[in-house]
Amino acid sequence: MPRGDPLYVSARVLSAGAPVAQAVVDVWHADAGGRYDVQDANWTIEKSRMRAVLEIDADSRIGFWSVLPKSYPIPTDEPVGEMIRITNQSSTRPAHVHFRIGKEGFDTLVTHLSADGDKYLDADAALGV
Ligand SMILES: [Fe+2]
Repeated sequence: MPRGDPLYVSARVLSAGAPVAQAVVDVWHADAGGRYDVQDANWTIEKSRMRAVLEIDADSRIGFWSVLPKSYPIPTDEPVGEMIRITNQSSTRPAHVHFRIGKEGFDTLVTHLSADGDKYLDADAALGV
């Protein structure tokens, strides 16, 4: 069992206000230490964690339990790091959960939700806010 504060995610997938039956939702996020499973040098697909592929229910909803992810710093050793330094931006992303929502006949949506109250919410390094 992963350590961390419990997190329950509830979401509904709509297009122009209408349910999108049988959409598939890929979900992934960092752990309570702010690290993704693939950052583990010994990672293999069998060791995946904080990830799921879900099919929405008849009411176009998904819901699942996980642990609250933690904010994390992005790498700053590439040109993006120089940009962050020049612009005095934070190199930290607020805690968030990623979603990739797909269904044949629809454009794929890749987005994320950040944790309300995260101290980096107004300074997300990836979004330049
Ligand atoms: Fe992320």
